[in-house]
Amino acid sequence: MQLVSEGREVSWSEGQSLSRSYYTSASIFELEFRKVVQNQWLLVDHISRIPKPGDFFLFDVGRENVIIIRQSDSEIGAFYNVCRHRGSRVCITREGSVKALTCPYHAWSYRLDGSLRVAPMMREGFEKQAHGLIPLHLRVFEGFLFINMSKSTPSQFETFVDRYRPWLEPAQLDKAKVVIRRNYPTTANWKLVVENFVECYHCGPAHATYSFVHDRLKLRALGAGMRSGSDNDIKKYGPILRAWEKTAIACGYPVGNFADGPDSESLQGGGRAPIGGERKTETSKGEPAAPLLGSFKEYDGGRTVAHFNPFSCLFVNNDFAVSVRFTPRSEAATDVEAIWLVREDAVEGHDYDPEELSFVWDTTLREDCVLAENNQLGVNSCVYEPGPHSYLEGRISDFIAWYLRKL
Ligand code: FES
Ligand SMILES: [Fe+2]
Repeated sequence: MQLVSEGREVSWSEGQSLSRSYYTSASIFELEFRKVVQNQWLLVDHISRIPKPGDFFLFDVGRENVIIIRQSDSEIGAFYNVCRHRGSRVCITREGSVKALTCPYHAWSYRLDGSLRVAPMMREGFEKQAHGLIPLHLRVFEGFLFINMSKSTPSQFETFVDRYRPWLEPAQLDKAKVVIRRNYPTTANWKLVVENFVECYHCGPAHATYSFVHDRLKLRALGAGMRSGSDNDIKKYGPILRAWEKTAIACGYPVGNFADGPDSESLQGGGRAPIGGERKTETSKGEPAAPLLGSFKEYDGGRTVAHFNPFSCLFVNNDFAVSVRFTPRSEAATDVEAIWLVREDAVEGHDYDPEELSFVWDTTLREDCVLAENNQLGVNSCVYEPGPHSYLEGRISDFIAWYLRKL
């Protein structure tokens, strides 16, 4: 693939990884931040983190730091954490609850809606209304908060989430709560982290737990969603998937799978498939770890997957959900955070066991962190050259082609 972006010629052969500079260069990171990251809807957290007006938390992306704050019972805002006086960070505490946002430097103070309330000893003619915090786009879907840093009108949020509605509605995640939060800061370029997440070629050799829990044939056919497996494996897995779909439909639950191609806006994918065997949910033994979510009345053993874009993914079992986000910080660092959700009335120790709940994905994400960091170390070497992909890594080509188009 040849294309020109801001005078730079990009060369990449489909079915191969990218050349080294894409995983190491600070200037490419700047460019892709502007062209790719800034224009995507980024999943940041769940609404249950800020239940009361004044509750806030900070979110880091690239060099930016964003304040997510609840303004009222019905409104949540997102602002760049940059004081309009001389640019200090306004909010220093990572999360908490405030009546106003007051800059620690010269005490300019902003209301919860970002407008400037107090700016002491300013000269005559100073216009407070022109010096509010700079907002960015924020939307809520099924209780998940998404931001978009696009400088112009962002891509339609409704289009971004609509296709997931039928799959996610039964779980009613807007009525769930976060019970576990884990961070896996990864010293690797975000594209290596994402590439690792869109293939299951490594599941067998590198994820003993994940491979034990999930049907092996499914991992080959659909391990990283549609378009990630070979036609042959999809054919072999077809009868198992269709048999399970009958069960799911009998329960009144949604079925189906899809994956966008590289010319799409957000390279989305998702759908539902059984975990495997007699397993009811994604735990070590397949036994339930929490009360049924939302309107689920019985276990169909299925798991819903929503790849909103390469930066976030949501897995929903009948009893609990896990969202994972990959946030680019620099050319060599990526924040990875996972949150686990259960119904809001579930009681720890009585209804759910955090260890059991988090076991599969915590183990897998720890392993993924090491894999991506080792990958980066090798890519840094002077002898690294793009290598050929297996037929289980087709989704990486989709991702790279999508990324280069955006660039
Ligand atoms: S930089 Fe914030 S009040 Fe001066
Ligand atoms: Fe992995």
